[in-house]
Amino acid sequence: MKKVALVGAGVSKFGVRKATYRDLIWEAGKACFDSVPGLKPKDVEGLVVGSVMPERTAFQSHISSLAAEALGIKPTALSARTEHMCASGTVGIRYAYAFIASGLADLVMVLGVEKLNQPSGDEAILNMGTGVDREWEAAFGLTAPPCFALAAQRHMAQYGTTEEQLARVGVKNHNHAAKNPNAHFSKGATLDQVLCSKMIATPLRLFMCSPITDGAAAVLVASEERARTLTDTPVWIRGTGQALDGFQLTSLHDDYAHWPAMKRAADAAYAMAGVGPTDVDLAEVHDCFAIAELIAYEELGFCKKGEAGRFVAAGRSDYGGDVVVNPRGGLIGCGHPLGATGVAQAAEVFAQLRDEAGPRQVANADIGLTHNNSGMGEHVVMIYGREAT
Ligand SMILES: CC(C)(COP(=O)(O)OP(=O)(O)OC[C@H]1O[C@@H](n2cnc3c(N)ncnc32)[C@H](O)[C@@H]1OP(=O)(O)O)[C@@H](O)C(=O)NCCC(=O)NCCS
Repeated sequence: MKKVALVGAGVSKFGVRKATYRDLIWEAGKACFDSVPGLKPKDVEGLVVGSVMPERTAFQSHISSLAAEALGIKPTALSARTEHMCASGTVGIRYAYAFIASGLADLVMVLGVEKLNQPSGDEAILNMGTGVDREWEAAFGLTAPPCFALAAQRHMAQYGTTEEQLARVGVKNHNHAAKNPNAHFSKGATLDQVLCSKMIATPLRLFMCSPITDGAAAVLVASEERARTLTDTPVWIRGTGQALDGFQLTSLHDDYAHWPAMKRAADAAYAMAGVGPTDVDLAEVHDCFAIAELIAYEELGFCKKGEAGRFVAAGRSDYGGDVVVNPRGGLIGCGHPLGATGVAQAAEVFAQLRDEAGPRQVANADIGLTHNNSGMGEHVVMIYGREAT
């Protein structure tokens, strides 16, 4: 297989945006092209667009062709859309990786985009219910916040995790987002603010949840030969893994505080990359709700099972700790425009491993990891390195 690298990246402003779906594509696409001096849309051979619900929010399908035309790309090797709920963007990066590693393409853009606040935030919450089983779960109110609340309740009962430890994830990620000009939220948060914010689904409070966000992000993925012609500082895709336990909440596992598919996805990615959890300098993990970040520490191997609450409270997932988790602000601080999230995570790792992350820079970062879950039962992990091996 060929070696594969990221050579460019760009992110739109995330938030409740007046911009249209196409405006968001333009914003992220242009930022991505601007990151590779001299590169023209005609040089790009493929486009994969991660987007979950444009049919409902923009009354638009046939997304990859729309985006290709908007950006002036004329795909010759690959044009596709990935819909895999919250992991759609990262699944798109995996497709581009596979095409390039196998020699079917040399330069592919992966763009993630979602316009969720359309026509209103309330309707977005209804739309989001399409990501769980409509007939047996969403119809009874079991949408994402209560699902993840059940995991939090189990973790608290089994391991003594506290509401304050959950709140520490919100504090950290809101404060990281304050250093990211593209984030949905910019004011940071204190422990009191998080603990006094309104209850959404016990024990998850507003500042422990990701918001309803519009946004887009793009990365350029290249073969080694093409990467060397475009930049002196490519960021290499070292490993990738994906695993599924199930779709319906009730079919997942006996214990909602354990997410075995995440561990299997991570183990596959670590093995492929030839690294382990202690080698990871920064991780962009899927903190759709604070409990998801805590369980990620455990399943990704940053701490032992049951220790995540104490891990965050001790600052071990912050600057100066064992691994900096969610330096761009995570989904809680940056927002979660579904299809865009995984691509924006990759864009952050790209900036960090090139020492281009400004006030968010993690010192001496060599290995970066991204993780998405789509529901609690399916997980995708990517590992990137400053060096190819
Ligand atoms: C948490 C949630 C229910 C809050 O929605 P809401 O109660 O309708 O909130 P509103 O949209 O009315 O916003 C009220 C205020 O809170 C703010 N806010 C909304 N969501 C927020 C969040 N997650 N964190 C912090 N502040 C938030 C808004 O900016 C607004 O502030 P303002 O009054 O200063 O303008 C909603 O954001 C949500 O469903 N999040 C989860 C999304 C999801 O399931 N994603 C998939 C994950 S797998």
